[in-house]
Amino acid sequence: MRVTFEQAVLILKSNNIIAIPTDTVYGLAGCAYSADAVKKIFQTKGRPQNRPLIVHYGVKPAWERDVIWSQDAELLANRFWPGPLTMILPLRIESPIAREVTGSSDSLAIRRPKLGQMSELCDLIGPLAAPSANKYQKLSATTSEMLHDLQVPFLDGEECSVGLESTIIDLRSKPYLVQRIGSVTIEELLATGLHVEMTQCESNLPGSGAHYQPNKLLRLDATTVSAGEGVLNFGNSNLVAPCSLNLSVNGNLDEAAFNLYRMLHCLDSYDCTMIAVAPIPNFGAGCAINDRLQRAARVR
Ligand code: TXA
Ligand code: MG
Repeated sequence: MRVTFEQAVLILKSNNIIAIPTDTVYGLAGCAYSADAVKKIFQTKGRPQNRPLIVHYGVKPAWERDVIWSQDAELLANRFWPGPLTMILPLRIESPIAREVTGSSDSLAIRRPKLGQMSELCDLIGPLAAPSANKYQKLSATTSEMLHDLQVPFLDGEECSVGLESTIIDLRSKPYLVQRIGSVTIEELLATGLHVEMTQCESNLPGSGAHYQPNKLLRLDATTVSAGEGVLNFGNSNLVAPCSLNLSVNGNLDEAAFNLYRMLHCLDSYDCTMIAVAPIPNFGAGCAINDRLQRAARVR
């Protein structure tokens, strides 16, 4: 059910949850200080309790109450916030964040999304815990039509302009490890002068192998098409099938990132058995696209 901004405020204040567009993907948001709200997020997503949630903040620097801030965090915030970068920092013992948010760990993942309804709500309500608004391991939602599995109230009217989840960097020990790549690239992080390395850490967490999955099986790096397959082209890949979409006719990787989940969602509803995906170049936003596609194609 679509709700107004005023209704969203009331829903969140009464420790209920709601789907809200962010600059990356839709988040399934609840008050991060309320154990009740956080439990509803886990239940609605069907997510295991040991998979911690990202907490979102608005313009007010309320994160200083919740995490142990550092000079390097300040440097990254100045460069990338508001925007699609999540930082993992030590949780303050005295923070009122519901411990369910952190999977009972002593760290907290925090992000300041670009200005918009999400940011305004964080300033009005307080920090909002929000994983991507999808059933556990399924495709993230980038439009309100993609939320139907969840049966929750939602806000819309703002575009998820990036289309892929944020880049996650762990700032607790050096070198800083990138746990998930998003539209903020390794090259951009290195350009800040910090020692940053890529890790496979996300895949070490329980249940994190298969992820971001459409209902249909994916076949990656396709250069031919089998009978019955639908096709996701990129640039001039020109795979031909009755059900065919192109992530970016001009070969623009940011446009491809924006379209990825929308188009996989469409192909899921089309009359085809599997989805063949053309090769995507592995630089810029292409690294994040390939990361999501590889997890989506893992054996279930
Ligand atoms: O763009 C995004 O990041 C979106 C929007 C809604 O902000 N959120 C999102 O959340 O993608 P989610 O829950 O689908 O993915 C967050 C990832 C999970 O793999 C989780 O395990 C990891 O971040 N994470 C969260 N808190 C963490 C922590 N304290 N330590 C380690 N990993 C953490
Ligand atoms: Mg997710």
